[in-house]
Amino acid sequence: MKIYLIGYMASGKSTAGKELAELLKCSFVDVDEYVEKQQGKAISLIFEERGEEYFRHIEKVALREISQLYKNCVIATGGGTSCFYSNIDFMNIDGVTVYLRLEVATLVARLLNDHTQRPLISGKSKTDLNDYILNALNLRRKFYEKSHIVLDVDDYSSHEVATMIREIVMQHK
Ligand code: S3P
Repeated sequence: MKIYLIGYMASGKSTAGKELAELLKCSFVDVDEYVEKQQGKAISLIFEERGEEYFRHIEKVALREISQLYKNCVIATGGGTSCFYSNIDFMNIDGVTVYLRLEVATLVARLLNDHTQRPLISGKSKTDLNDYILNALNLRRKFYEKSHIVLDVDDYSSHEVATMIREIVMQHK
């Protein structure tokens, strides 16, 4: 079975995803890492050199390659993966999709604390970040909420999130 983790930047897809893969004793794949390895460049550099449209194209191809390469795995998508092309529909057919949903305030706090290079939000002040995320979620929510399972995870640790997903997915089987 493939489990796709969906959600905005800093929603804990990679951290909870790694823990979930350990619990399920299966592989873990991060779409951003896969793209970076394949291109030999950081995502921020790909955006800088080739722009977002190019990134969305290689992200779409990477998603389908990962799906071919792994049968049982947990896949952490990038924050925008589910919102371009028909990626969310592809993932819904290919596996179980889980949206890790968080309040805007939680996302802002996490992103201000996290020093990962994220081209879409780099250099934004707290107020700008808040407005940017509010706007982005208004556009992205309809894609994220197509997921099979929607979890509100503000108050849970990555370990608790991983455990919850395992329980739910086991019942889904
Ligand atoms: C993006 C999220 C990033 C990465 C890229 C674009 C987005 O992934 O794919 O910077 O559009 O939300 P994370 O969600 O892992 O930060």
